[in-house]
Amino acid sequence: MRELSDIDVVGVVGAGTMGNGIAQVAATAGYEVVMRDIEREYVERGLGSIDDSLDRLASKGALDEDPGAIRDRIAGTTDLDDLATADLVVEAAVEEMDVKRDVFADLDDVTDDDVVLATNTSTLSITTIASATDRASDVIGLHFMNPVPVMDGVEVVVGERTADPVVEFAHAFAADLGKETWEADDKPGFVTNRILMPWINEGVRAFDEGVADKADIDRGMKLGTNVPMGPLELADHIGLDVVLDASETLHAELGDRYKPAYLVKRKVEAGDLGKKTGRGFYEYG
Ligand code: CAA
Repeated sequence: MRELSDIDVVGVVGAGTMGNGIAQVAATAGYEVVMRDIEREYVERGLGSIDDSLDRLASKGALDEDPGAIRDRIAGTTDLDDLATADLVVEAAVEEMDVKRDVFADLDDVTDDDVVLATNTSTLSITTIASATDRASDVIGLHFMNPVPVMDGVEVVVGERTADPVVEFAHAFAADLGKETWEADDKPGFVTNRILMPWINEGVRAFDEGVADKADIDRGMKLGTNVPMGPLELADHIGLDVVLDASETLHAELGDRYKPAYLVKRKVEAGDLGKKTGRGFYEYG
């Protein structure tokens, strides 16, 4: 495995919302980036989004460099073989297991043997993706949040066979991009989407069942719980297709997520009611 200090070129597979965001933050951190998508049109659109985003950041003085200099470090391509020079690859193709497995099998061939292959999958199994390669120990989840240039966090997802040094490397790389990390096991939805998707779906159901109108559901959750977006506007922001794909994966893997969690019942029976009793899921002085 290559050390972080050996990483010069980051390959990104996919120039869509997530792929172009990842390419942008990697280039902003000083890496050379090769961003690949299957059609020239998708590559150009991704590069255009990067231009817009860099201009927004530059206009408020949030960049240390001229946007043009950052942009010059990003090369777009439709040829996966161009990732042969990559010291690390982050895949952000469509959320379809067959596609991801094909991409990883190809990346396994195209890249040097000691190159870490990361996937930005939001819900699919890292272990299943990794099994398409002969280097499962070098495969890891690096789950960026949308919009990538603005969000502070990256979820590091550890597959069944992911090697410990690769996990450390993933945290260090994300930190180098200016992101904070948390770690999740390779269980459906990891931390974020396992919790976020039922929240969004419940917001959608509340609307559908006439609890409140759309705007009041979003206002209620924003004003009532201090989140930046309510469930319906967040669903729109993420993309309803992404929400549906993620929800279907979680549903298939986890079944009915809407019963009260047994641990809530168990803690209530134990009298651990949260802050007011000094103990719930956390302890309070
Ligand atoms: N590039 C550069 N800057 C951007 C940007 C982009 N792509 N998108 C937004 N910004 C900047 C804006 O320029 C603005 O900057 P200033 O405050 O300095 O003016 C700032 O971000 C806020 O943007 P807006 O004023 O347009 O709107 P906002 O205040 O509502 O913020 C938001 C937008 C940052 C997206 C905020 O609403 C937010 O944090 N929403 C929640 C997003 C979220 O939860 N993302 C995770 C989704 S889940 C996921 O991604 C995982 C998955 O697998 C599905």
